Amino acid sequence: MTRPSPAESAPAAPAGCPAHAGAVPLWGPGFQAEPQTVYRSMRRDHGPVVPVELPGGFPAWLVIGYRELHRVTSDGELFPRDVGLWNQWPNVPDDWPLLPMVGRPMPSIYFSAGEEHRRHVRMVAPALEGADPFRIRGHCEQLADRLIDDVCARGTADLVAEFCEPLPVLVLARLIGFPDEEGAAIARVLKDLADGGPEAQSAHLRFGEHMARLLAAKRAEPGDDVASRMLDFPEEFTDEEYTLDLMAITAAGHLTTADWISNSVRLMLTEDEFAHSMSGGRRSIGEAMNEVLWEDTPTQILAGRWAARDTQLGGQRVRAGDMLLLGLGAANTDPLIRQGVSGPGPAQGGNGAHLAFSHGEYRCPFPAQEIAEIIARTGIEVLLDRLPDLRLGVPAEDLVRRPSAFLRGTTVLPVRFTPVRTTGDLS
Ligand code: HEM
Repeated sequence: MTRPSPAESAPAAPAGCPAHAGAVPLWGPGFQAEPQTVYRSMRRDHGPVVPVELPGGFPAWLVIGYRELHRVTSDGELFPRDVGLWNQWPNVPDDWPLLPMVGRPMPSIYFSAGEEHRRHVRMVAPALEGADPFRIRGHCEQLADRLIDDVCARGTADLVAEFCEPLPVLVLARLIGFPDEEGAAIARVLKDLADGGPEAQSAHLRFGEHMARLLAAKRAEPGDDVASRMLDFPEEFTDEEYTLDLMAITAAGHLTTADWISNSVRLMLTEDEFAHSMSGGRRSIGEAMNEVLWEDTPTQILAGRWAARDTQLGGQRVRAGDMLLLGLGAANTDPLIRQGVSGPGPAQGGNGAHLAFSHGEYRCPFPAQEIAEIIARTGIEVLLDRLPDLRLGVPAEDLVRRPSAFLRGTTVLPVRFTPVRTTGDLS
């Protein structure tokens, strides 16, 4: 799975589909600045299921009602994640910028459906579950310390480029089984993929080559890692399947976790209620992380599900083969459930009924959610332990979000702190 490139924000040709007259364009500055405002007007004008237009003029339904999203993700028969069903394929050009995100049917956990998908989950989920939480935490502490060592004497840093983005990919590379020397190369590959453009094609090839080398190494000498556990699984998989699944695990986990870290740190640095308890505030770290999953979640919109037959959803007539986009960020703030969760304000405490990791048979696997949680929490703890007087380096209103309706993250997070010594100097 790769992510949409910045080109997704380009204007599109009109859809020209009568069922989608009045469709809301899924690009523009509103998503980047304040998506919740956009969702509110969508809800007012269209209800819980919104006709939208993707860049390129393709029609889709954005499901923003919590109950409707729960229904869609719970019913894998009527709404499978089977991109092969899409009724727009005859119109999709090969260079459509959203193609890497929407995907094509392929033998991977991320782009397969039904029994074929369940076969991949049977192998991937236990391989992730086998990662010992204490070891993940240990890796994360060590790698976070290393990243902070690179900036700590300086007194300034861009936390996104120098901490939040590299940390998850370095930890994931280790868990999967890569030697440390390859961690930085994997991080570069993923950055080129996320940036899109001409580098993305060659990055995809390099990514595959890294994974193929890893498989050969783990066949020769298995270790305590995800790749070795996948190879050890008794059912037969092809090398292409192993490779695509390893790529899916890394691609699905790195930017989402990076955005979870940066959105949480940003919240802690900008909101008074968190800023007061920053130093030693382990409780406030968990609260900030949970609040982000409800209010500012990394995966705002996800493609998707495809209707297996004509049906009704949220008052709309959905046709066989229509694309349904999961409005995870919008559903979390659906006023109909927020009254029951925590009142109209931000969700408090440990309530985990948000849809940040989606729901149902295609949701983010539970062990993956746990890995993300350990990486994000440990990373933030180490950051605040090492740089206790961390503060923003620019006014909060100058912080810019990624120009995407799909992924919610901060592009640059400049910070200042009192310069401190590296861990090497301390030992
Ligand atoms: C904050 C961090 C994360 C978020 C918000 C997140 C969110 C998601 C979402 C929304 C999906 C799609 C579910 C669907 O189609 O219904 C997904 C799938 C997936 N995620 Fe995560 N994820 C995160 C971290 C991770 C990590 C760290 C890993 C790997 C260690 C991972 C591995 C996967 C995999 C393998 C899938 C495909 C599951 C399947 O198709 O059965 N994710 N994730």
